[in-house]
Amino acid sequence: MKPIRKAVFPVAGLGTRILPATKTIEKEMLPIVDRPLIQYAVDEARAAGIDTFIFVTGRGKEAIEDHFDVSYELEDTLTRRGKTAELDALAAIRPGAGDAIFVRQQRPLGLGHAVWCARRIVGDEPFAVLLPDELIFGSPGATEELVAAHDRTGGNLVSVLDIPREATGAYGIVDPGETKHGMTEVRGLVEKPRPAEAPSTMMLVGRYVLQPEIFAKLEDQKPGAGNEIQLTDAMARLIGVQPFHAVPVTGRRFDCGSKAGFLAANLALGLARPDIAPALKALLHEAGLDLTVRT
Ligand code: UTP
Repeated sequence: MKPIRKAVFPVAGLGTRILPATKTIEKEMLPIVDRPLIQYAVDEARAAGIDTFIFVTGRGKEAIEDHFDVSYELEDTLTRRGKTAELDALAAIRPGAGDAIFVRQQRPLGLGHAVWCARRIVGDEPFAVLLPDELIFGSPGATEELVAAHDRTGGNLVSVLDIPREATGAYGIVDPGETKHGMTEVRGLVEKPRPAEAPSTMMLVGRYVLQPEIFAKLEDQKPGAGNEIQLTDAMARLIGVQPFHAVPVTGRRFDCGSKAGFLAANLALGLARPDIAPALKALLHEAGLDLTVRT
């Protein structure tokens, strides 16, 4: 079985839910505490053994490419000022030379189309997909959990999270089969079912391990929900053809593509950081947990 070495990060979406912040700043570059959202996904992939990072970007997303490059002037200035801790921190988060690859999705035709845009770089091997606006915080990371499951079963795998039944209409939902060794067989995938019609409450959280055969399915995939080419629809066509399993996420998930999820992630991750938590807690305490501001 081929190991998972490559990860695709679809980052060509318009981020309309967080406008106007995303009018000129990429959603993926908005900071969670002190690093851009995209950095958390890259770190999660690296912790899972990924060594090739493929970003499917679009126009106006240049800052993502710059973030993963050397910043010559900044680093030269830091060197001259003897700021070695800051220099080390920048070096630690940077992919190695040639490890980050950027390809453009020319039109935002949907997540499935974005993944298809990476086909020539992925080639004939299984690969991971991470949607960076879903921040999953925990150890092991969600991608590491998928890669470990792939080592056992091969085939296609999706991370899932149990959600309240009334929320199924907003997400891709698994039609589950048998559960064995902590994994559930996937019998079907339904995009945004009404609560009464949802086959389960297992929601897809934006982490996938896919076989390269997905590209042939995406090639002729017709537009689905929202008139977009949906990854879920193409994945559903591999069920019954290849093994397909759902793996529960053990980390804490934040939907940073929504304003409330983005704010909650900032607070939660700030409180989880030993270098920031004491000051943050003191501020919250000082405010008596009353954070009302006049607007
Ligand atoms: P979303 O559904 O969150 O869409 O895409 P979006 O455009 O990013 O944000 P909203 O809904 O308008 O606020 C899920 C993931 O798929 C990527 C996005 O960048 C995000 O990571 N995507 C979506 C693409 O790369 N291309 C597309 O055509 C659509």
